Amino acid sequence: MTGRTGGLISRLAGGSGLTEAEYAELTAGRDGEAASLLAEKADKVRRGIYGADVYVRGLIEISNYCKNDCLYCGIRRSNRSCDRYRLTPDEILECCGEGHALGFRTFVLQGGEDGHFTDDLLCGLIGEIKSRYPDCAVTLSLGERGRDSFKRLFDAGADRYLLRHETADAGHYRSLHPGEMSFENRIRSLYDLREIGYQVGCGFMVGSPGQTPETIAKDLKFIEEFKPDMCGIGPFIPHKDTLFRDHPHGTVELTTYLLSIIRLIHPPVLLPATTALATIDPRGREKGILAGASVVMPNLSPTSVRKKYALYDGKVCTGEESAECRDCLSRRMESIGFRIVTARGDVKRR
Ligand code: 5AD
Ligand code: FES
Repeated sequence: MTGRTGGLISRLAGGSGLTEAEYAELTAGRDGEAASLLAEKADKVRRGIYGADVYVRGLIEISNYCKNDCLYCGIRRSNRSCDRYRLTPDEILECCGEGHALGFRTFVLQGGEDGHFTDDLLCGLIGEIKSRYPDCAVTLSLGERGRDSFKRLFDAGADRYLLRHETADAGHYRSLHPGEMSFENRIRSLYDLREIGYQVGCGFMVGSPGQTPETIAKDLKFIEEFKPDMCGIGPFIPHKDTLFRDHPHGTVELTTYLLSIIRLIHPPVLLPATTALATIDPRGREKGILAGASVVMPNLSPTSVRKKYALYDGKVCTGEESAECRDCLSRRMESIGFRIVTARGDVKRR
């Protein structure tokens, strides 16, 4: 680690942001020593706010139909080999019931942009979940629906919304998405969600095709400015039915490095150690938590559909029952001195 990198880390840990050029330098200048120092600082900051608690979210993958065609994604509409499914409201409620019994107090409804899930259908479903489980938070991760829809779903009781910005560099965004999708809409959606009253999550893939220290610097600057309540980052992993099939996956080393930086940029952020990270490394989630992550999101989807919700190849935890995943994760967290808590796990705004 150069003295210069050490200096940047000290400034970050001291609570001041960096310039875009400095974020790029910190990213490009990484080595083992810098990573350990960042992780140590991030761990300290996280423990100050969340202690040794790890929040758990039950992820329910409600549909793999998608009207979008993101170039990297396995459920893009042009993938003819994708075996499509959607869950019924009863199936989703059953997952919540199982999850609640296992101690989950947040349900994340995630899916492709599927017109079948109208506002009416979702409002009914959200209302039912909230009336059956008033002690639970509902998080939506259903893509860009437009402000009116976001508002209706919020009024129906949804608490949080995850919408990864994917990349904060407009040119990079264009290279990962078809022409009909726009970076401006993406960012506007995030601000709309915030204004409506949601706890909002953004995020990006690490090692996506075309990503550079300079594009990452823009992601970090965006996070510094937007101050998301949640931030989902995980390695890009190629999917065999996409043009990026031969592109190498993102690394554990860069993902954990960025997790530590993001924790320091915005200390209260709810930061998951993602399934993608567990997919490229058997101890990925543990490494993510040790680097400063504070959330895990095991799968609560019915096992019959889990393999079908394939954004990327090789996804872990597609064969296990929800209870097995819950127990496995508890053991994993305990093995590194953390504990999963039964709580809604809202962001701690300071
Ligand atoms: N590898 C890793 N993550 C992916 N996502 C989509 N496709 C892939 C992939 N091939 C991520 C996107 C999306 C989130 C739900 O999953 O960032 O926002
Ligand atoms: Fe799913 Fe370990 S978390 S099996």
